[in-house]
Amino acid sequence: MRVDVVSIFPEYLAPLELSLVGKARRSGLLDLRVHDLRDWTDDRHRTVDDTPFGGGAGMVMRPDVWGRALDDVLTPAGHLLVPSPAGERFTQRTAEALAGEEQIVVACGRYEGIDARVVEDRAARGRVTEISLGDYVLNGGEVAALVVVEAVARLLPGVVGNPESLVEESHGAAGLLEYPVYTKPPSWQGHDVPEVLLSGHHGRVARWRRDQALERTAHRRPDLLAALDVAELDRADLAV
Ligand code: ADE
Repeated sequence: MRVDVVSIFPEYLAPLELSLVGKARRSGLLDLRVHDLRDWTDDRHRTVDDTPFGGGAGMVMRPDVWGRALDDVLTPAGHLLVPSPAGERFTQRTAEALAGEEQIVVACGRYEGIDARVVEDRAARGRVTEISLGDYVLNGGEVAALVVVEAVARLLPGVVGNPESLVEESHGAAGLLEYPVYTKPPSWQGHDVPEVLLSGHHGRVARWRRDQALERTAHRRPDLLAALDVAELDRADLAV
């Protein structure tokens, strides 16, 4: 899979050389290219922004600079992602859909955002999605680019060593939060690992984990539980 990130702060994306994503890049599973938007400016000061029409605080990123950058970087099959607090919520479902793409391009805006004609122009010719990480405001799209690349890359075949670890995690197929996990020592600072996990009884362990996942989800994210199909929940419960 090819991923391009365009930013005025390419150094912000340096962590993508580390850990599983870095390894996926080095092994060729992920063709990740980070670009400096200023490479597409045409003035001595390498200007990427200007004052907003209609007035108001802050600066807006120029459509001509972004247009040239995207002409060079976005392939015909590419899916353009524009991080914005005004975008659609980025979820595990979004990551799953994006993992099937040939190319994604993340266009990182700064200041008050990118001139709206850039999205309008690209949407007329290809796929564009404005995505939001959540209901808060960041200084730019770079953190969202890090999030998208990590969430998508770990779903690519071969990136996560043991694919089973993708099955039971939070926001996975079951739609529940993950159960709590423990390792050695069995007793630490007066806190004991739940007895059932030491029992060696796979059926009881599976039942306990399912109950914990349900209980956690009900307490912490009742919205997730409410969105699940009751018949499907019952079926899954009987299967444990
Ligand atoms: N840029 C600024 N705020 C953002 C958010 N919440 N999600 C994605 N991109 C952003």
